[in-house]
Amino acid sequence: MKNTKPTILITHPFLLQGFSTQTLEKVKVEIASTRSVLERLVEHADILVVRLTDRVDSALLARARQLKVLATFSVGVSHIDLNACEKRKIKVLHTPDALTEATSELSLALLLAASRRVLEGDEMCRKHAFKGWEPDLLLGNAIRGKTAVLVGKGRIGTHFGKILKFLGAKVVFVTTKTSPTAIQALLQKAQILSFHTDLTPETTHWLSAKRIDLLPRDCVVINTARGAVIDERALAHALKTKKIFAAGLDVFEEEPKIHPDLYRLRNVVLTPHLGSATIETRLAMARLACENAAMAFFGKSVKNILKPQLKIQRAVKK
Ligand code: DGY
Repeated sequence: MKNTKPTILITHPFLLQGFSTQTLEKVKVEIASTRSVLERLVEHADILVVRLTDRVDSALLARARQLKVLATFSVGVSHIDLNACEKRKIKVLHTPDALTEATSELSLALLLAASRRVLEGDEMCRKHAFKGWEPDLLLGNAIRGKTAVLVGKGRIGTHFGKILKFLGAKVVFVTTKTSPTAIQALLQKAQILSFHTDLTPETTHWLSAKRIDLLPRDCVVINTARGAVIDERALAHALKTKKIFAAGLDVFEEEPKIHPDLYRLRNVVLTPHLGSATIETRLAMARLACENAAMAFFGKSVKNILKPQLKIQRAVKK
């Protein structure tokens, strides 16, 4: 008998946890664990669920002749050719809301670790170099009273802003409406500068060498958004020359590569793209991506569809 169930192609077995048992009875799931298998299996997929590390470009979409729904296990969509999806009327889903708290929490963890020199303290203890309490041992930066400039005022930026306000910082947002002159003035005051925006042509290298020059010496830069919003080489140089105080980076320009200077610096905390990495969040993201992709295919309305695909809000201007 001919298989009439739609085929859902997923690019990691973890995503299987995102389907309800009822849905699994109505669909056929296939797993593509390498790029070459993905390129082959996508030819007969009705629904595709990818991770942010799977590039969905026009070449892949050209092979995906029967694709109706594409979901990504991420809130960011910079790895997807949205124009090509729009032309083909492919519905695109992502995972907003699910990771707001987790990503804000990691931004906070990086900020505290970088501001309070946690890594240097840890290293001192492990190397048996801690010889006793001193009034001026590893002095760091407080959060209270500081001016925090948050680039992007979406869900994560707004949530992180509330946390910073609670800790006593003065919070200012950069949005699409902020003029270049206002941005310049804000950067001069930014003692905390944190990124919460997707990668678009407008946000690529938003923090350029020129803008880094405007930052005050006590500035701590935090990035849990996308690596390429910062010129990583210029930031590494600023950290090396103590032009700014510290940084906490969860994302990198050419992941998984990291600028070699960053490994050697004591005033930067590095994490391997862990923003949404809590058990609860990753399971919620899997459900949003997988279950809703199937629902969207069966014609049900789902809230995490990108609408309209080509008018995704640009978080900030250059
Ligand atoms: C996203 O979802 O875009 C994050 O970068 C990873 O969870």
